[in-house]
Amino acid sequence: MPLNSDKTIEGSFQLVGGNFATAGEASGELKRTLTDLGVAEEIIRRAAIATFEAEINVIIYAAAARLLYFIGPSSIRIRIEDMGPGIENIEQAMQEGYSTAPEWVREMGWGAGMGLPNMKKNSDEFNIESVVGEGTTVEMVLNIP
Ligand SMILES: Nc1ncnc2c1ncn2[C@@H]1O[C@H](COP(=O)(O)OP(=O)(O)OP(=O)(O)O)[C@@H](O)[C@H]1O
Ligand SMILES: [Mg+2]
Repeated sequence: MPLNSDKTIEGSFQLVGGNFATAGEASGELKRTLTDLGVAEEIIRRAAIATFEAEINVIIYAAAARLLYFIGPSSIRIRIEDMGPGIENIEQAMQEGYSTAPEWVREMGWGAGMGLPNMKKNSDEFNIESVVGEGTTVEMVLNIP
């Protein structure tokens, strides 16, 4: 299934808050699709890390979300639209080490405050928008050279 110049491959997932059992489904499928397409391993690795962190954030913080991905000939676009509490101070949330994860989440090994910074680091373009009381949308683009 080689990447074809005018074709976009799309996928979508419903993510449900609190459902840790489904963590990794979306990032796993994206990883398999990119592997089948012959995308460079380094880019697959970055896309999978960024998508997995987004999945985990939805599971921990939001009620539900839609995760969409679009793979074109020169980029991968991943968009996560959640319904949840939103983020009041995005600048603060983006800081390494900032976390509001409760104790039971920390006991599971999450809550280092590294997810959003890692999503940004692993993307070529990163955008986050949030409305308190409504939800958060994250969009990431990775270029395929
Ligand atoms: N989808 C979201 N909805 C509401 N708040 C969020 C969402 N994603 C992140 N946050 C807020 O931003 C903070 C930082 O998120 P980030 O992913 O960087 O760290 P974390 O989830 O706390 O820990 P880690 O990702 O290292 O396990 C979170 O603790 C939470 O307060
Ligand atoms: Mg996180």
